[in-house]
Amino acid sequence: MNKKKLSLISMLLLIILQIPAKEIPLVSSIYQRSYISLNGKWNYVIDPLENGYYDYRLQPFKTAGFFENKKAQDPSDLVEYNLDTSPLMNVPSDWNSQDEQLFFYEGTVWFKKDFPIEKKTGTRYVLYFGAVNYDAKVYVNGKKVGEHIGGYTPFNFDITEVIHDGDNFVVVKVDNKRHKDNVPTVNMDWWNYGGITREVMIAVLPETYIEDYSFQLKDGNTDQLTGWIKLNYPIAGQTVSVEIPELKVKQQLRTDENGKAWFGCKAKPVLWTPEHPKLYEFRLSKENEKITDEIGFRTICTEGKKILLNGKHVFLRGISIHEEAPFRSGRAWSREDAVTLLTWAKELGCNYVRLAHYPHHETMVREAEKMGLMVWSEIPVYWTISWENPATYKNAENQLHDMIYRDKNRCAIVIWSIANETPHSEARDRFLSNLSAYACNMDNTRLISMAMETTRNPETKTIHMEDSMNEYVDIISFNQYMGWYWGNMTEWANANWNIPYDKPVIVSEFGGGALQGLHGDSNRKFTEEYQEELYKYNLQMFDRISGLSGLSPWVLVDFRSPRRQLPGIQDFFNRKGLISDSGNKKKAFYIMKSYYEEKVKDKR
Ligand code: GCU
Repeated sequence: MNKKKLSLISMLLLIILQIPAKEIPLVSSIYQRSYISLNGKWNYVIDPLENGYYDYRLQPFKTAGFFENKKAQDPSDLVEYNLDTSPLMNVPSDWNSQDEQLFFYEGTVWFKKDFPIEKKTGTRYVLYFGAVNYDAKVYVNGKKVGEHIGGYTPFNFDITEVIHDGDNFVVVKVDNKRHKDNVPTVNMDWWNYGGITREVMIAVLPETYIEDYSFQLKDGNTDQLTGWIKLNYPIAGQTVSVEIPELKVKQQLRTDENGKAWFGCKAKPVLWTPEHPKLYEFRLSKENEKITDEIGFRTICTEGKKILLNGKHVFLRGISIHEEAPFRSGRAWSREDAVTLLTWAKELGCNYVRLAHYPHHETMVREAEKMGLMVWSEIPVYWTISWENPATYKNAENQLHDMIYRDKNRCAIVIWSIANETPHSEARDRFLSNLSAYACNMDNTRLISMAMETTRNPETKTIHMEDSMNEYVDIISFNQYMGWYWGNMTEWANANWNIPYDKPVIVSEFGGGALQGLHGDSNRKFTEEYQEELYKYNLQMFDRISGLSGLSPWVLVDFRSPRRQLPGIQDFFNRKGLISDSGNKKKAFYIMKSYYEEKVKDKR
């Protein structure tokens, strides 16, 4: 098809699809695109009564809202806000750590950023947010371009029709109020950091661009690759090329009527492993676009009580990690934050990290992949979710979709987790079994799990791990806090286990608190010695589990939580970290480290 005809079709499609601005499917691998960064200083206005959104009868403004970014033109004009002269805040960031007035604040804050654009014809401009916690309403040049619910997954809007050459501005209404029907719900053990918490950029793309792609081993065969590339328009006959130089693969593909081109080839890539995290450069291109990405290949499956990575039994030497910025606290978001946290995990002897309790920043996953760490990635279906509310289910499913969509090419992710410590009920099982089916349907190349809970029989010193959700997961994972929330360590160290499923077992959380630097008897809670003892006895207890395939102790680093009020000890920090919030290792760190060293020796 000649270029002239093609651009005519694109223009025709544009007219048909001509909608001022709208949420569009995520432009995948945003960091591999050409983009304008909007990171930096944004003006912000604290608006606890949402006075910039509702009139005094609580009706949303059609005009006159703060999103208009209005200025008084005449001394007689009444404009009771000014986004230009309001204070400035770093974006990305959480407002809690940027302005002490906002430390505990839950509500609405408005953000505004001016940005110049030299608008080019035949170009699409897509405004991308890495994450906004929790409810985002986005306006460009005073026009609503869309909104997004969910604090930990990316979203983007095509703003081509609402920007103009020269100066433009974007306004975002961010509301992090908790609601019973949200995901997560109103109670959680982490700080409800509000704000534009991950990066903001404007992707600058050709009229017809590569929207998404996927490449992986074909049905787990290590000598065949399969994949596809999808354009943003359903245009047939477009040529897209895939090159994997190191595998001497180069193919020209043609899109079908859906704008999708299918890829397949025989190739024997070196498989990705934690010890040798091999990634291949992928060069995707079409007439006016080039994307380079790094993709690895591995197989992951279970066989009875074993987890097999590339066909070999693997023990997941893990640690749980919250997205808490090392040293400065607040929401982590940068590559430096990721590398610091993951380097600490490597020092611990990990080959695996549980990224709790929500999808972490894309960079965190990419850095884990480069450093040879397998990943458990989780949506925040946490504790007492509104199981009967269809909107809550849809919200959870959207977050699950967006997590899988964003990271489907990240071979380091081996487990999708659909829940954490949820109370048993039929409604909960319906909700979660649907999520499990949804995840399998979207991606049947990874394992599904969730953090369950145990019950105990003190007479027989037996720990029961029984959950009706067992048939909907590939791995039986559970959190338990022997020696902290229940049980005498010495009595339970030789506990009996009843886990009546022929599936691998991961202890997805265990641990206890310690204030780093507080020393004393090992029977005194919050001393480093108590935490050290607790780890010793728990590890002894875990070695009695048949089919134990992994551990992810709770937690790598102390993290902020509104549930931890003990003055002088917690001060709104959960102190179960093996490392303090100022980066100092506690004695229990070394217990865990030597346990993992033994695990590595056992394998040899
Ligand atoms: C639970 C929960 C964590 C929480 C931890 C704790 O297991 O999953 O989110 O922080 O216990 O009580 O410290």
